[in-house]
Amino acid sequence: MRIVDSAPALAEALERPRSGTAIGLVPTMGSLHDGHLSLIRMAAAECSNVVASVFVNPTQFGEAQDIDRYPRQLDRDADLAATAGADLIFAPTVDCMYPDGFETWVEVTDTGRGLEGDARPGHFRGVATVCLKLFNIVAPDIVYFGWKDAQQTAVIHRMIRDLDLALTLRLGATVREPDGLAMSSRNTQLSTEERERASLLPRALTAGVAAYTAGDDPSDAALAVLATDNGIEVDYVQQMTAHDHRLLCAAVRIGTTRLIDNVILEEPA
Ligand code: PAF
Repeated sequence: MRIVDSAPALAEALERPRSGTAIGLVPTMGSLHDGHLSLIRMAAAECSNVVASVFVNPTQFGEAQDIDRYPRQLDRDADLAATAGADLIFAPTVDCMYPDGFETWVEVTDTGRGLEGDARPGHFRGVATVCLKLFNIVAPDIVYFGWKDAQQTAVIHRMIRDLDLALTLRLGATVREPDGLAMSSRNTQLSTEERERASLLPRALTAGVAAYTAGDDPSDAALAVLATDNGIEVDYVQQMTAHDHRLLCAAVRIGTTRLIDNVILEEPA
């Protein structure tokens, strides 16, 4: 697997394959799991060239501590990405993405407000900015994101429309562990006891769906399940609409690890 770490090296690597072929981009922060790999497989099924980017983007982390703890394992990621069908890893340096004097930001105002936008001020500004840069550098025809970060996908969708970006957004379903926990790079930060606790999050969301179907408040139902374990601190449980789907979204803290997840309450008619 070839790994390139600068924009010129990427342009050179993509030059030959580019003509007449579709380029797919799967943006990641590395520490790849089956959720990422399912996106890479989706991309490989419809693009002749698949780039997986690996960049732990400093501008989307509020807490310095969180970025320091973020797992990094590039060689392992490159092997996994190759097995799933990626052709190239773009792993730029921080200097490449944020050269000295960097001062241009993308702010998706309304869609980036509420839920994660409120809980992590500046987070979506960092996400939108780095994604626009990745889109400009890689020049993909199709970009792949996971439903698990539903608000992020809504922010990216808004940016693509508002800034007339000539690319298609595809969404991949959330991939879950056998006990329902959504795959996330942050799951590795949980202790054994915390990992057990974490399965309450998908259970709470499933209870929310059942309540919604019965005509009851899904947030109340999910909160009632989460309240059964005082080792779980709830950030929010809230409904939102993304891509015309009604979702129930939640963010919780277990120890020092913050987890988010969502389920579909209603699909578009
Ligand atoms: O979802 C992520 O891993 C990140 O937010 C992304 C899209 C790679 C931007 O840094």
